Amino acid sequence: MCYGLEFGRRMLDQWAYLNGVGIAFSRPGNPTDDGHIEAFNGRLRAECLHASWFLSLADARARTKVWRRHCNEERPHSALANLTPRPSSIRLNQPEKLRSPWIRGGGRSNVVPDNSKELNMPAPYAIHRAQIKAILLAWGMPEENAETTSVILSWADLHGVDSHGMSMIPGYDKLRRAGRIKMDAHHRIVRETPLSAVVDAGGGLGHVPSYFAMGLVIEKAKKSGMAIAVVNNSAHFAAAGFYTLMAAKAGLIGMACTSASNRQVAPTFGKQAKFGTDPFSFGAPSADGVPFLLDMATTTVAAGRIRNKANEGLPAPDGWVLDSEGRPSNDPLVASEKGGFLTSLGGSPENSSYKGYGLSGMVNILTSCLSGSTLITDPMHTKKPQGLDIGHFFMAIDPTLFRDPGEFEADVATFCGELRAATPTDPAQPVMVAGDPQWKNAERRMVEGIPVGPGLLNQVRQIAQAAAAPWLLD
Ligand SMILES: NC(=O)c1ccc[n+]([C@@H]2O[C@H](COP(=O)([O-])OP(=O)(O)OC[C@H]3O[C@@H](n4cnc5c(N)ncnc54)[C@H](O)[C@@H]3O)[C@@H](O)[C@H]2O)c1
Repeated sequence: MCYGLEFGRRMLDQWAYLNGVGIAFSRPGNPTDDGHIEAFNGRLRAECLHASWFLSLADARARTKVWRRHCNEERPHSALANLTPRPSSIRLNQPEKLRSPWIRGGGRSNVVPDNSKELNMPAPYAIHRAQIKAILLAWGMPEENAETTSVILSWADLHGVDSHGMSMIPGYDKLRRAGRIKMDAHHRIVRETPLSAVVDAGGGLGHVPSYFAMGLVIEKAKKSGMAIAVVNNSAHFAAAGFYTLMAAKAGLIGMACTSASNRQVAPTFGKQAKFGTDPFSFGAPSADGVPFLLDMATTTVAAGRIRNKANEGLPAPDGWVLDSEGRPSNDPLVASEKGGFLTSLGGSPENSSYKGYGLSGMVNILTSCLSGSTLITDPMHTKKPQGLDIGHFFMAIDPTLFRDPGEFEADVATFCGELRAATPTDPAQPVMVAGDPQWKNAERRMVEGIPVGPGLLNQVRQIAQAAAAPWLLD
């Protein structure tokens, strides 16, 4: 692997012809979020995957010509939407041996794929992000907001948090069509001290006001040692970990949580939905450059992971959901459409689900009671004229309030290193600390691309078509 236009030419000429597989990477024109990767993954230094191809020999030859045409026309790097889309869906006309370890059904063995089968190829990160942004723009979101929102959603997909990236698009589309979220919302600070702020999100999606609020508490914590901001009149903000990572990257401890729009969890011993999946994230900087990043729903899993099973026609694994009588179920639609519930973290009272229930209470108190957004237990929750009115909470703490510079980060690195060094039960699965799964996913997906299941891909394609957004994924 190497980078740049020259490489693109050479690689497709040489690798693709010789090996039957071509991958081209080029430097980004506008690496808004790629510093996230750079910060804790030295091996991916350049690191916006700007265009990539995963090809059979025949397609590699055709694409080499396309690539040369691009180079000759000197297309600007930033014009992603104008790039010839990658061949994400290749119909193989001739049986041939696939030698790419990245091609589904391929591998380095002599696998001969079924001719008639469409291969859905993982999209390069930048194309995946560009597709999300194109849809948001087509929905009428201003450019700057669409950029930030697409960065946050594709961050989730890149880091393996598939429940909170592109898979949110169908849900956002429904809310937008129902007039429950504004695409052109403006956030504003409505109350402020050197240590705190209340932000009114203006009835739009939560990503932009949350990015703003975390940026604000980071700025305040750098001056005052710690700060908290709450956001009300908001909607879904995606993965909480994106925001706590902002703090960790600034050398601060970060905390973030949000209330939810859907009531789909019953309190312990109850069979009536009273609250949501209410996620919580905690991030801390580490001297080794690998932050600690706990990012979790207070239910056994995020609702999006169950929705993803439903999208692809798969059952929900044991312990994730209950039917309307509180009995275990594997129906991925039982909570969203059939009066059932998600389980609180712990799964059952015998396995301490009251702890997940208690954590959810904490999240709602910080996000709704503190921000003034509508309580999820209120019958008018999400039905008020202004929109969904859910609340968020963001906190940043400067460790130098308590320790000399560098001491805290050194201890975090030592602590996490000791945990990772614990003897594993299975030598093939080393011990990790919170955040490690995300970093591993990001490293792999930056190279291999971001997979999207055919069920979701089809839904997103239809949404893009209906909004007259360009389709970049095949
Ligand atoms: N916006 C919302 O309304 C909303 C609601 C619910 C969840 N979410 C988001 O959904 C996402 C997924 O939540 P989830 O609960 O399904 O996450 P999860 O169960 O996949 O992971 C939770 C955490 O556990 C850590 N982890 C996983 N395996 C580990 C291991 N073996 N050792 C150490 N740590 C490990 C991960 O690094 C992560 O921090 C999160 O990003 C969350 O913020 C958002």
